[in-house]
This record gives sequence, structure tokens and C-alpha cells, in this order.
Amino acid sequence: MIKFRLIPVFASLLMLASCGSNTAENPSAGEQSESSTTASGAETFSQSDTSSPVSDDSRRSGDNMAAEFDLVSRTVKLNSGYEMPVLGLGTWTQDDDTAESSVYAALKDGYRLIDTAQYYGNETGVGRGIQRAIDEGIAAREDIFVTTKVMPSNYERAYSSIDDSLERLGLDYIDLMLIHQSGSNDTEVYKALCQGVKDEKLRSIGISNYYTLDEYERVTAGSEIKPAVVQNENHPFYQNTDFQKAVSKYGTVVESWYPFGGRGHTQDLFGNETIMDIAKAHSKTSAQIILRWHLQAGYVTIPGSQNPDHILENISIFDFELTDAEMQRIAELHTGQRYENW
Ligand SMILES: NC(=O)c1ccc[n+]([C@@H]2O[C@H](COP(=O)([O-])OP(=O)(O)OC[C@H]3O[C@@H](n4cnc5c(N)ncnc54)[C@H](OP(=O)(O)O)[C@@H]3O)[C@@H](O)[C@H]2O)c1
Repeated sequence: MIKFRLIPVFASLLMLASCGSNTAENPSAGEQSESSTTASGAETFSQSDTSSPVSDDSRRSGDNMAAEFDLVSRTVKLNSGYEMPVLGLGTWTQDDDTAESSVYAALKDGYRLIDTAQYYGNETGVGRGIQRAIDEGIAAREDIFVTTKVMPSNYERAYSSIDDSLERLGLDYIDLMLIHQSGSNDTEVYKALCQGVKDEKLRSIGISNYYTLDEYERVTAGSEIKPAVVQNENHPFYQNTDFQKAVSKYGTVVESWYPFGGRGHTQDLFGNETIMDIAKAHSKTSAQIILRWHLQAGYVTIPGSQNPDHILENISIFDFELTDAEMQRIAELHTGQRYENW
């Protein structure tokens, strides 16, 4: 069966480390990003602001040091020391009521990772879906991994928004909080997240929409907690291979948003000949092949869906394995072109 390579776990060391200097007393007056939604449902922002462990050979770059995925337990151990499920539900574009029902359906189907964001405006619905599943004995709080995100603003606004998210979600800790995108004062915002870890409001922290090691190191400068996760646009047509390898030295895991290319683009991927050919060979759907590729390539992934049939289909990917040759064929679909530009 498949084997994953171990990477250094920085967990205890990093979590015990201090967050660097706390500049709360002298916060910068950053601008809150303005965001909008495109017709395709894409997030747009103004710029102000676990297998069968998989063989090394299944990876696109044979020498990457990505964290070990365990596709039996369906988790990966983060550099924070916490286990993160490798497959979750994305909730972008869902209002509170929709998020409540899709989160509940996902937890019932066995999902244990839920992705939301302050910007999505549905943390309350996500919290309600989680609470309903807990009340019905479907899952315990400690088995559910909840991610939310904060926009770059300034230290104090970011720090106080942690409590706002906790209240909306109805939780007493958040498993992972990410800076949603780069922007002015994001280094200070990262320090606020570090403080959230220190104050036991957050378990792990990370960043989103950072595509170079330089940017990763800029935002974390002066903070000794390295991101557990970087959440980026990532799919067969735009693969974060080099970035994944670069941040693996910090034990950071890359998580894929737009695993299917996002609304308006999913048919580009689902209808791709290579994907369809591999799907036929395994009697699976294109969506399932793509998601299995994400996991075997060492990416946590969070397909977005509000359709109960799709939600079930998307988690039914732990009963087959892509061959090295199939992984290579998908690796060759990389074009270097992203669908979004934030
Ligand atoms: N950090 C960021 O900046 C950022 C940006 C974008 C997204 N995200 C996160 O990443 C998640 C994933 O991205 P996304 O939701 O935008 O795009 P996506 O997962 O690539 O695609 C979502 C689309 O795929 C459809 N779909 C899902 N499963 C399917 C299946 N089995 N068969 C056919 N169609 C299927 C969904 O429709 P149905 O609802 O009908 O299933 C929806 O239209 C988001 O929900 C959000 O949590 C983060």
C-alpha cells in the first residue's frame, strides 16, 4: 500500500515559541479590504487592503517534503501538532441557511473539516450546522476541524474579530484561522493570530493567497509561529508544486481552494479528456478523480457544494488509488494559468 514520506514536525517547538513582538499598542491603521462577488460566484477583492500514505513517486515532484498524509485516518499532522482532516467542505457563496444544511449533511457523511470565512457572512449558519450534528451525536466538537479567515486590517481589529468569529460559530476555539489574502498590515494581522494561539482561542494559524516564499516569509517576519497551512488556488491546471516544496521546509501544508476550478470553470476540468479517461478506468466521476489527485499530491482540499449528492460523491474517494502513471498524466495538465488574480 502507499507510503508517504515523513517531514519534520515542528509542532511542539513552534507552538511553544513566542509570537514575536506584539505591536497592539501601536497598531497601524490598515484599510479593511472591500470585496465583491462576480457573476460566476468568484470571490474578488480590491487590493487594498490521510492512505494509504502515498508513495513518493506518486507526487509530481519526487523530492518534495510535504507533510505526511494518512489516507486511512484521512488526516495530516500540522506543524502546530494538531491533526487536520485532508478533505473538507467549502462554503463559499452559501448563505446561513444553506451553509447550515450543507455542513450538517457533510458531517453526517463523514466530513470532519469545514471551511468558512468572516467574509462569506455564513459563520452563524456553519456554527448551526455543526451544533446540530453535535446535538444529534453525529460528531464530537473535538473531531470537527473548523477553519475561518480574517481580512487584513490592523492588529486590534483582527484580534477582536477572533472573538466575533467564535461567537458567530458558537465555538470556544477555532481550529485554524487564516489571513484571507495579502494586504496592508498583514504582518501585524499575522501577529494578532499568533496572539490568538497564545490565548488559546486559535489552535493553528495560516495564510491564504500567498504564492511565493518571499511573500510567505514577509508576512510571518518577526513571528516564530510558522503557518500550519497556506490556502491557495490549486487544481490540475494550476498546481502549487514548487510553492508546496518551498514551504515544506517550515512543515506548512498547502490546501487547495477551487479544487474544481471554481464556479463557471468546473466543466473545463470535469470535461478534460485525461481526467475523463482516468475516471473511466476507475469507474469514478471526474470530480472524484480530481479530489483523489489533490490528496495523493499532498494537498488538503475543500470542494464547495450545497448539493447533498455531490457532497456524498466528493467524500467517496477513499476506496481507490491513482497509479503513478495517472498522477503523472494529471501533473502534465499544469498550465501555469490561474482562474483568479487575487
Ligand atoms: N481563500 C480563498 O481566497 C478562497 C477562494 C475561493 C474559495 N475558497 C474556499 O474553497 C472552497 C472551494 O472553492 P469553490 O467552492 O469556490 O469552488 P470549487 O470547489 O472548485 O467548485 C465548486 C463548484 O463545483 C460544484 N460541485 C461540487 N462538487 C461537485 C460534483 N461532485 N459534481 C459536479 N459539480 C460539483 C459546486 O456545485 P454544487 O453546489 O451544485 O455541488 C460548485 O458549483 C470554497 O467553497 C471556499 O470555502 C477560498
